[in-house]
Amino acid sequence: MNDTSPDKTARKPRVAVVFGGRSSEHGISCVTAGSVLAAIDREAYDVVPVGIATDGRWVLEADEPARLAIRGADLPEVDADRSPVALMGATTGTDLVVTEPSSVPSVIGEVDVVFPLLHGPWGEDGTLQGMLEMAAVRYVGSGVLASAVGMDKAYMKVVLQAAGLPVTPGVVVTRSEWQQDPVGCRARVKQQGFPSFAKPARAGSSMGISKVHDASELDEALEEAFRHDPKVLVEQSMEGAREVECGVLGTFEGPPETSRPGEVRTGGDHEFYDFEAKYLADQHTEIDIPADLPAETEQELRAMAVRAFEALSCEGLARVDFFVMPDGALVINELNTMPGFTPTSMYPQLWAASGMAYPELVDRLLQLALRRDTGLR
Ligand SMILES: Nc1ncnc2c1ncn2[C@@H]1O[C@H](COP(=O)(O)OP(=O)(O)O)[C@@H](O)[C@H]1O
Ligand SMILES: [Mg+2]
Repeated sequence: MNDTSPDKTARKPRVAVVFGGRSSEHGISCVTAGSVLAAIDREAYDVVPVGIATDGRWVLEADEPARLAIRGADLPEVDADRSPVALMGATTGTDLVVTEPSSVPSVIGEVDVVFPLLHGPWGEDGTLQGMLEMAAVRYVGSGVLASAVGMDKAYMKVVLQAAGLPVTPGVVVTRSEWQQDPVGCRARVKQQGFPSFAKPARAGSSMGISKVHDASELDEALEEAFRHDPKVLVEQSMEGAREVECGVLGTFEGPPETSRPGEVRTGGDHEFYDFEAKYLADQHTEIDIPADLPAETEQELRAMAVRAFEALSCEGLARVDFFVMPDGALVINELNTMPGFTPTSMYPQLWAASGMAYPELVDRLLQLALRRDTGLR
């Protein structure tokens, strides 16, 4: 038999770009995938686009970055009618298998690394990472624990605080506590004081978040947050704070690097950085990169960003978001293990301003992932 298959060690690494997903951030994830597909160096990598439809089905997507661009106000979606695809873990490698109703499942090849471009639950929260660990396939970004802790704002606070990092004080109210003892829940929140912010513990894009100016607004704010998550966090409002974000990126050896920080300034009718201010272009949101901060504040903020990254055992990438208080004190708001990643999103913009262009950033993340085994590390 004439075996013409190329030498296994010589072939290009095959990247499965996984996007879409079951969370409300499906469309944003598709836009990101379009940008990443366009930016991956095809001389260096073979690329397989894998879409997760809103109902959770995995399909083999078309390698057409342009289809995934935003058209007007319409966000793209994974095409659920395409061929179903499954990732089959095996001791000898991890294959992507395509199944069509009328034919024998066909193997389209081994996957060397997965780039999970998913935001929110079922993707950014350790669930996909756990599946990839079980299948022994390498992947970009944080592992199971860091992803899960990063998704849950209440646990994130516990971990950051234990590492000696300043966080916003907050109390957790679960739906069952609220149903069984609303008087007790109200008292706990009142004791912390107003104004405060009620937020779903595991959401993103400011969904379900409201500012609670006084006790009269609490019930409605809790109900709104419970629509997204049975676990809600009520935090003290950091009045008068500036919002400054910092990119953290893994290196091949030693501690991760940080980008210059960037500031988000919300204006117009927006009392805080809400969903509209984040995604609707005409909402008076301004981004300053680098943020106008005294040099020593920037230095302190970047050092804290690394400490937060390490406190959660993050890998690959994260964006650490701070409140800079009127007296210059720094407080960590949150850490995102899969920050917005379109070329115009904050994280890639922070790196662009720090000298790293988008395609180079994508390549760094893939190379970091390829060099890291799954399992305990
Ligand atoms: N404790 C707080 N004090 C002041 N503003 C807050 C507070 N918590 C949230 N916010 C505002 O709400 C926005 C979204 O909250 P955040 O916790 O970052 O959730 P998300 O994961 O949805 O981005 C923040 O960017 C900020 O504008
Ligand atoms: Mg945020």
